[in-house]
Amino acid sequence: MNQLLMKTEGLCKYFFRDSGLLGREQKVLKAVDTADLEVKHGETLALVGESGSGKTTLGKTMIRIYKPTKGKIWFEGDEICSVEGDRLRHYRRYMQMVFQDPTSALNPRKTVLDIISLPLRTYQNLPRTELRERVKELLEMVELPPDFLYRYPHALSAGQKQRVGIARALALNPKLIVLDEPTSALDVSVQAKILALLERLRREFQLTYIYISHDLSVVKNISDRTAVMYLGQIVESALTDNLFESPLHPYTRALLSAIPIISAEEQEVIPEEITLVGEIPSPLDVPPGCNFASRCQEKMPICEADEPPLAKVGNDHYVWCHRYS
Ligand SMILES: Nc1ncnc2c1ncn2[C@@H]1O[C@H](COP(=O)(O)OP(=O)(O)O)[C@@H](O)[C@H]1O
Ligand SMILES: [Mg+2]
Repeated sequence: MNQLLMKTEGLCKYFFRDSGLLGREQKVLKAVDTADLEVKHGETLALVGESGSGKTTLGKTMIRIYKPTKGKIWFEGDEICSVEGDRLRHYRRYMQMVFQDPTSALNPRKTVLDIISLPLRTYQNLPRTELRERVKELLEMVELPPDFLYRYPHALSAGQKQRVGIARALALNPKLIVLDEPTSALDVSVQAKILALLERLRREFQLTYIYISHDLSVVKNISDRTAVMYLGQIVESALTDNLFESPLHPYTRALLSAIPIISAEEQEVIPEEITLVGEIPSPLDVPPGCNFASRCQEKMPICEADEPPLAKVGNDHYVWCHRYS
């Protein structure tokens, strides 16, 4: 559990957009800006933050769906940030993703058999019968009956679609799966079943998860460690229990104060709701200093001038904030 599976250092993903007269100016959107993260074998690492904070982009960049703008990524000790071609293919099979919206993630014109077997067909040259058997096995793993093989996505419920998405992600025996808000499009009762399925699969196949969510209260129950993102940057990361017991970054504290209090201990740590004031800067035009400065109630002069340094504040607890440096 303490072995590193993946590590990123200074990982950035910028999107460039032409603007101005004749597109001569280029605007830079720093969707992910210098992310340092470690992912350990067998754990569930949660990525949490408001919509637009860069969670999906970070997940896609870590597993090389997106080409990183700069930085480093190690997967099982190999640096994979700029590998291409066959070498990238080799690593990509071990890193899969389950997408947020199961409807748009599945091709409406393909059967479940075609959808789940696509990764198998890209990587292996299996005879038809073997392919079908493997897909049946995958359907069973996600608790769907074998006669789903020839169904089309429109004939499935949202929860069933998400199960198909999970089966497709499992097809090549991955080591790491990025789960991008996998239950946010589902009813509460279905959510719990999908979460239970994911947990069983993680144990059975020794999977490692990066679990993306905007909802801290979901993450609390399912993740071992949590990294909090704000405007493209990770502001704090810690063991999930530690993060909930002693949140340090003013942003984490504000996020936590907004979720329902569960225990008396938590009530003591976060006595009252902290209301976030001020504007979120445009990601196209982030001011210098700390990205959170414009909304921070504990702001100091240095916060608007210098980027916050990384501070290690405890065992596996990191915070990017001038208050702790
Ligand atoms: N393909 C893209 N092209 C341009 N900008 C993008 C693209 N994907 C995301 N963004 C921008 O990057 C920022 C982070 O987006 P995203 O990673 O989707 O955040 P989250 O998943 O936390 O909601 C947002 O400002 C978003 O508009
Ligand atoms: Mg997202």
